[in-house]
Amino acid sequence: MTDAHAASKFYITTPIYYVNARPHLGHAYTTIVCDAIARRKRMLGVDTWFLTGTDEHGQKIERSAAAAGLTPKKLVDQISPEYKTLWKRMEISYDDFIRTTDERHKRGVQEMFHLLKKNGYIYKGKYTGQYCVFDELYVDALGPGAPCPECGRPTETVSEENYYFKLSAFAEKLLKLYTENPGMIRPETRRNEVMAFLRSGLHDLSISRTSIKWGIPVPDDPKHVIYVWLDALCNYTTAVGFGSSEEKDKKQFAHYWPADVHMIGKEIVRFHCVYWPAVLLAAGLPLPKSLVAHGWLLFEQDKMSKSRGNIVRAETILDVLGNDALRYFLLREIVFGQDGSFSFDALVQRYNADLANDLGNLSSRTLTMIGRYFRGEVPYPSPTAARTPAEDSIGKLATKTIADFNTLFDDYQFSRAAEAAWNLISAVNKYLVEAEPWAVSEKEDESSRSRLATILYTAAEALRIVTALAHPIMPQATARIWAQLGLGDIRKLKLNELKWGQLQLGTKLGTIEPVFPRADKSAIERMKSMEEQHHGSGSSPSVPEQKAAIEPAGAGGQAVRQAVAGTAPAPGLVSATNSNAGDNNRIGIEDFSKIELRVGQVKTAEKVKGADKLLRLEVDIGTEIRQIVAGIAEAYSPENLIGRKVVIVANLAPRKLRGIESNGMIVAASLGEQGKPVLAGFLEDVPIGARLK
Ligand code: MSP
Repeated sequence: MTDAHAASKFYITTPIYYVNARPHLGHAYTTIVCDAIARRKRMLGVDTWFLTGTDEHGQKIERSAAAAGLTPKKLVDQISPEYKTLWKRMEISYDDFIRTTDERHKRGVQEMFHLLKKNGYIYKGKYTGQYCVFDELYVDALGPGAPCPECGRPTETVSEENYYFKLSAFAEKLLKLYTENPGMIRPETRRNEVMAFLRSGLHDLSISRTSIKWGIPVPDDPKHVIYVWLDALCNYTTAVGFGSSEEKDKKQFAHYWPADVHMIGKEIVRFHCVYWPAVLLAAGLPLPKSLVAHGWLLFEQDKMSKSRGNIVRAETILDVLGNDALRYFLLREIVFGQDGSFSFDALVQRYNADLANDLGNLSSRTLTMIGRYFRGEVPYPSPTAARTPAEDSIGKLATKTIADFNTLFDDYQFSRAAEAAWNLISAVNKYLVEAEPWAVSEKEDESSRSRLATILYTAAEALRIVTALAHPIMPQATARIWAQLGLGDIRKLKLNELKWGQLQLGTKLGTIEPVFPRADKSAIERMKSMEEQHHGSGSSPSVPEQKAAIEPAGAGGQAVRQAVAGTAPAPGLVSATNSNAGDNNRIGIEDFSKIELRVGQVKTAEKVKGADKLLRLEVDIGTEIRQIVAGIAEAYSPENLIGRKVVIVANLAPRKLRGIESNGMIVAASLGEQGKPVLAGFLEDVPIGARLK
């Protein structure tokens, strides 16, 4: 047992997820990692608290709600439970789920604000500068439209009277802290980034907004709402009782705070490693013991995210291969800390090789043979005559595997930990092939019986050990194998006592049934088509869609074509709207629904140098500001476009025009020989972000 295991408590958190998007595999990844860690700690007998939840305030949510024609409250009440439902399906063993709209949280955030003010770290000032709504981040950038350094999206200028937090007072303190505690930020690369950021000096941070309403009011000055990141970060404390005057909450806070691990994705390192510790220092509260950042799950080479439109839903994998397959794949395949690609092919390949073949075979053949040759009772291995060096090697390897697995897992090297366990599985499968118990079983003499008992005991004991080690990774399948081994409820297992040779002789096996049926090729196709259908059905967007009928844009009976916006029309789009198309060219509604048409509002427009026809536009589509390069310069002057509502194809792959990335396409009719573009629009007022169906 390492020191970490001896600790009296262990408190682990996931980031709280924004509710402008339904959960996808990226969110599932972080949550699975934390769940596996929490389960293992509990198996080691450590008093464990695992927190997750949802981040529900701020401009991003306010805009998403407006785009969906909902109040923010209605939106967050719809999406937050979707996280809970998915976590339930995935058997995520969280102890608490916090929502930032919970009363307990609001009260705690206000208390934190109060405390920071009382301690002299808050003052009032005026902020004029850039803000990235997508990242909810103040940006030290040069001017209107400057790209956000985090996501590259154009920032917006805000000018408001705000409360400021004296972040600048903490650069030196944090540098000292991370120099003295180098292991506090993991991995090393992230620590280096944080150190460089701190060395460049810190500016004070604006921590209130007056231009938005959807947030927690500043105590005694309710026209301000508290900056969403300060609000969100406080969840780690408010969930365990901070800000409550009740005795039991105070006790809980004293017991669990500080957190042992804040698990985060690499894009939110600065908030967690700079802002949050500074806030805690200012409040006089203890700091988290470690901040652990993982890499991104990529799909088709890009970070999986709603805004890139390349998400994969966990539900599809759960439906086809099950929860354990997903968990195992993510922990085994992705090198923790680095970016890793997800693909259905790799998932099925891993599932078949490691689970159906390696573990599945070891389990089914060992248990079936014990059932057949020893009436379903764990046989007695021979202490002497029937032993060969092979049994000792397996025993030694198992002992080493336990030690290696523990070290690697505790060092966040989940992939290598699983690899170590699977090396043992391979060794035992090889041992069985060489020892040939099926052949030994055919001989009736006493020494053969004894030999058979030794072989099957060895295999069953190794199976018990890998099952125990893999339990935090695959809770359901391992619980079933454990029960088949006749060992009852796996949750009662004390992992710190796990040793070779503990399998009791004569243990009566449970009912034997296959745990990982082989997946055939059709599994890949099934999952792919489930995802395609989902994306196509329009049910995947982040927020419930507002229905708006598609209107040919004032083209006086002319065929409406996609004249565009500099990018080539999307396949299917032209025929979808071209009234000249014959019946053969017609498409089904499922094809049409693949195209995401949205209402946007032009925020800025300018000519593209050296290109007579092109304008560079920034278009607000509710959830984000998009840069679009459009071939409409000859028909529209930039100043006439600002504030105009337009229709854009939102899910087109980005393309570069004259070196400028165009992220979408503006819909227009094309008139006359020259194809003069006339922008599509609406007679009635339509909210920004509304989807056309
Ligand atoms: N609400 C903030 C976090 C506040 S914490 C006080 C936020 N939310 S989020 O919904 O955008 O979720 C971010 C987290 O989800 C990432 O930090 C990461 O843990 C997880 N992931 C989302 N997409 C991911 C991938 N494509 N890959 C891996 N993890 C991903 O930021």
